[in-house]
Amino acid sequence: MADLPPAIDDIRLLLAEALGQVAACSTAEALKAVESAVLAPQSTLAQHLRSIPKLLPELRGPVGREANEAKRALLAACQARLAALEAAREGDLALTEWVDPTLPGEQRGGGRLHPVTQVCRELEDIFLGLGFDVLDGPWVEDDWHNFGALNIPADHPARDMQDTFWLTDGRLLRTHTSPVQIRALESQTPPIRAVAIGRIFRHEELDATHENTFHQVEGLLVDRDVSAAHLVWVLRTVLHELFGREVETRLRPAYFPFVEPGFEMDMRFRGRWMEILGCGLVHPRVLAAGGADPEVWSGFAFGLGVDRIAMLRHGIDDIRHLMSGDLRFLRQMARGTEA
Ligand code: FA5
Repeated sequence: MADLPPAIDDIRLLLAEALGQVAACSTAEALKAVESAVLAPQSTLAQHLRSIPKLLPELRGPVGREANEAKRALLAACQARLAALEAAREGDLALTEWVDPTLPGEQRGGGRLHPVTQVCRELEDIFLGLGFDVLDGPWVEDDWHNFGALNIPADHPARDMQDTFWLTDGRLLRTHTSPVQIRALESQTPPIRAVAIGRIFRHEELDATHENTFHQVEGLLVDRDVSAAHLVWVLRTVLHELFGREVETRLRPAYFPFVEPGFEMDMRFRGRWMEILGCGLVHPRVLAAGGADPEVWSGFAFGLGVDRIAMLRHGIDDIRHLMSGDLRFLRQMARGTEA
């Protein structure tokens, strides 16, 4: 057999070497690098292809065929290797990234409403059901709405009943929700049936039943010929609905400058009485201060301590837990009645 031209020898050698490199590639990236190197314009194979026109005429055919054949063989080998690598990768994914849809999901603790918010929302629903409007009032109040219009003038000793946080501009943090009574009388003409639910503030000594930041529901009903019997019926109905059963209550005479007569209501809890609200028939001076003629209109009002109701519902023995922000305590709070 005649000696092969050196160019053909060279092409066969580089093809064998390149096929070995392709077979050794274990990633698509490595394969891409080999492919570009052996087929690049500066590669030996590309130089052979470019030199064909300059060869002796009898060599052009065989060398051209050999070089083109080598290029085709290399491209085919690269494609086959790429397909093999991708198939292997999919097989690996099936082993490493499989999902078991039958496993139980991750448990995430859902949030729940704070016990005071729960009671506020339930009371709101109950009063709406009884035909009361729900009003809002500002936390920062002026002296007139918090005291003056409620028949508590500047030098009245009743101001000491509720120790006040005063602001430097002479305003104050409301010490009860009763100022909303005045705002309701100012903005509506009777008959009025309204409640206001919200936060109040007192500069108080703290103990198991006294907080300095707590919540009240104020109720105001103004109409013709309103009596204490109407007041007692509404309060008993609301407590019955809230606790889902008859609860033991008692009414005691009490003094509030803005009602006459005035009462306090206690509720029995674990054999002891807890004061839950103040109430009475709206004082004629308060009606007049709000713009309602006391000769024509009469009314009742009450202020219910929401935090104490939450204590009774959940069997909480110390009011200070409620605003402590302690999540361990809050997590224990489920809906229910305890009293
Ligand atoms: C008042 O605040 C009157 N404005 C209530 C009222 C309204 C009377 C309308 C008549 C007519 P008193 O200070 O008693 O009253 O508070 C009312 C209720 O709020 C109490 O019965 C109690 O349930 C709750 N309460 C009072 N002080 C505290 C406190 N420091 N911490 C938690 N709850 C309290």
